[in-house]
Amino acid sequence: MEWLAALEQSRLAGALKASFYVYPLINAGHVLAIGFLVTTVTLIDLRVLAILPARAVPSATLLRRLAIGALLVAAATGLSMFAIRASDYAAMGVFRLKLVLIALAAFNFVLFAVLFRGRSDPSGPLAAGLAATSLALWLGVLLAGRFIAFV
Ligand code: HEM
Repeated sequence: MEWLAALEQSRLAGALKASFYVYPLINAGHVLAIGFLVTTVTLIDLRVLAILPARAVPSATLLRRLAIGALLVAAATGLSMFAIRASDYAAMGVFRLKLVLIALAAFNFVLFAVLFRGRSDPSGPLAAGLAATSLALWLGVLLAGRFIAFV
């Protein structure tokens, strides 16, 4: 596809390829953002599932903001790495799977925020179901991301 080829020829992709340091630093930024994202959503979800007591977890508002910031950094660094080999990544089943899982996990996150808006400590079967789904989806994203390097 033309837009993938254009992305590979872009100044962004050129800058990443030209320097010895830039790609590893962007990759490290991706891993750091993933660490923040997975940690914050896991704390939120384990609290909703009542596996962690309220006193052990920072405020859900703070955790949610950190998670959104981390997702934005992961998306920016991920898209930068994608630009280098856009056609290859776009053709990989595991990369497409990862994007679908990210979309589902983000939708689940927004749904939870909308359904339980204003509730400081949501609980009950629906909240627990969404929290368990969130844990499974983000774990899936993590695994799909790691598998990209091996296909
Ligand atoms: C729109 C968002 C994202 C895009 C476009 C993206 C894209 C990429 C790309 C291109 C790579 C390099 C793969 C390689 O050649 O080895 C990568 C690595 C990876 N991504 Fe993402 N990513 C995104 C978000 C995420 C998120 C949210 C997670 C996890 C929660 C994640 C987990 C990983 C992992 C574990 C790796 C392997 C890192 C390593 O071991 O070096 N990614 N991602």
